[in-house]
Amino acid sequence: MSGNITLSIIKPFAIKSGFIGPIMAIITEAGFRISAIKSVKLTIGQAEEFYSVHKSKPFYNDLVEFMSSGPVVAIMFKKENAVEDFRELIGNTDPSKAKEGTIRKMFAESLQRNAVHGSDSDENAIIESDFFFAKKERF
Ligand code: CMP
Repeated sequence: MSGNITLSIIKPFAIKSGFIGPIMAIITEAGFRISAIKSVKLTIGQAEEFYSVHKSKPFYNDLVEFMSSGPVVAIMFKKENAVEDFRELIGNTDPSKAKEGTIRKMFAESLQRNAVHGSDSDENAIIESDFFFAKKERF
C-alpha cells in the first residue's frame, strides 16, 4: 500500500471557520479518494503523541495545545503518489510562502493555524493513518 495513501487533518481553526466543505471539495476534485474519515477532539496526550517528532521544537507546546483545542477532521486519502501530490495541493507549511491556489494560501491564517496537515513521507503516512484509523474503518 506504500505510496498511495496520505493522512490529512483539517485543524481546529479551519473547522471553526466553516472551511471543511470547501477544503474537502478541492481535495476530492484533485483526484484524492476518501478511504477513512472521522471527526475527533484530540486529548493533550494524543496531540503530544501525534506530533512527538516535533517534541524538541520551540513551538511544540503551542502546537499540542492548539491541536487539542477543538475538534479536528482526520482523513486518510488514496491516490497514486498521494504524499507528494497532497503536499503540492496544500502548499508551504507557512501560508505566507504558499503558492497561489494552494489550500494553505486560501484557508490558513498563520504557520500554526495553517488549516491542514499532510503526511511528509510514505512511512509517516502509514504511522499517522494507524494513529487514527483501525483497519475496519478503511474502505
Ligand atoms: P503540520 O503539517 O501539521 O506539521 C507540524 C506543524 O507544526 C505544522 O503543520 C505547523 O502548524 C506547525 N509548525 C511548524 N513550524 C512551526 C513554527 N516555526 N512555528 C509554529 N508552528 C510551526
